[in-house]
Amino acid sequence: MKLTIDGRSIETTAGRTILEAARENGIYVPALCYHPRLGKAGRCRACVVEIEGVRGLKEACATPVREGMVVSTDTPRVLEVRRMVVELLLSEGHHQCLSCQASGNCELQQMAYMLGIERPGLLFETAPEPLDTSSEGIVREADKCIQCGRCVAACQNLVVNEVLAFGYRGHAARVIADEDRPLGESSCVLCGECVQVCPVGALTLTGPRRARVRPYETTATRVTCPYCGVGCQINMHTKDNRFVYSEACEENWERHPNQGMLCVKGRFGLDFVDSPDRLRAPLVRRDGKLVEASWDEALDLVAGKLKGIKEAHGADALGFFTSAKVTNEENYALQKLARVVFGTNNVDHCARL
Ligand code: SF4
Ligand code: SF4
Ligand code: SF4
Ligand code: FES
Repeated sequence: MKLTIDGRSIETTAGRTILEAARENGIYVPALCYHPRLGKAGRCRACVVEIEGVRGLKEACATPVREGMVVSTDTPRVLEVRRMVVELLLSEGHHQCLSCQASGNCELQQMAYMLGIERPGLLFETAPEPLDTSSEGIVREADKCIQCGRCVAACQNLVVNEVLAFGYRGHAARVIADEDRPLGESSCVLCGECVQVCPVGALTLTGPRRARVRPYETTATRVTCPYCGVGCQINMHTKDNRFVYSEACEENWERHPNQGMLCVKGRFGLDFVDSPDRLRAPLVRRDGKLVEASWDEALDLVAGKLKGIKEAHGADALGFFTSAKVTNEENYALQKLARVVFGTNNVDHCARL
């Protein structure tokens, strides 16, 4: 299917939206309520475009492409509407970009920058709302919420935990957890999906990420989550070779087993990498106390004990347990050791325990 965007001839697949076609071709169209993993939204009007022969402006995130369509993404009319959207969003709440955890990674800030908005033309005085710090992993700042609905859609439709929803009516409408409880007292399972999709600083992670590290200061390294056999693809963010935070890898998310999502372990359980309590050498017991030993000493000790048990009680007195946290090749090698070297089929795996 062929269409024209900003004078460029574009080829795309039927069923795509204008926003998807534009982004595939490197054309900037902002979006606040739309997120690729959440699908069509059409709530915020940040993405409006002009279409030749169509009255009014259309939401690029919710309008499918048509053959021969002629679209403009940056006419004065489009920019005026976008400016109004951003100014209204910035006029409410308390957007303090200087100290905001999301600064540099905030889609509203980016829109304001692209439109050259230095301060909103309108400002409504509202009393600051207290932070919700009740959760072990997530901080909620209602003052920065733009009610885009991404977190609600993610919690309801992606992870299907059904904790977040819109509550109250009119000006009082807001995102609530369960029956408007603090997040830490709600049924939230701390998957962190809402944080990952939030376009602004209304939902942020606690822990090292809040230790004055800007998102753009970190280096992302893609890894496979070490916690279970699903194989979730994670971006580990580090600064100066120290772990800061992890998030699901969203590049080519359709091809990943986790489809851009994570559970509590992948999201919050990886700071052990820098833990001072982490074992860095084998321990053996001497005089009743565990002390560090060399690998040669530890392996000789274990081999000697396994051999002794086999000689005294037979090979089936031994059992070998392996783990979902190691690779298939390592699991294969361990069962080979059990069967071929020691002669027992007593092999099991932590996923069954
Ligand atoms: S949420 Fe975005 S616009 Fe609001 S203060 Fe933070 S960086 Fe600024
Ligand atoms: S962390 Fe997960 S379960 Fe908790 S509110 Fe966010 S999306 Fe819902
Ligand atoms: S918390 Fe974030 S994702 Fe949820 S509605 Fe507010 S701005 Fe949107
Ligand atoms: S991103 Fe299209 S309407 Fe919000």
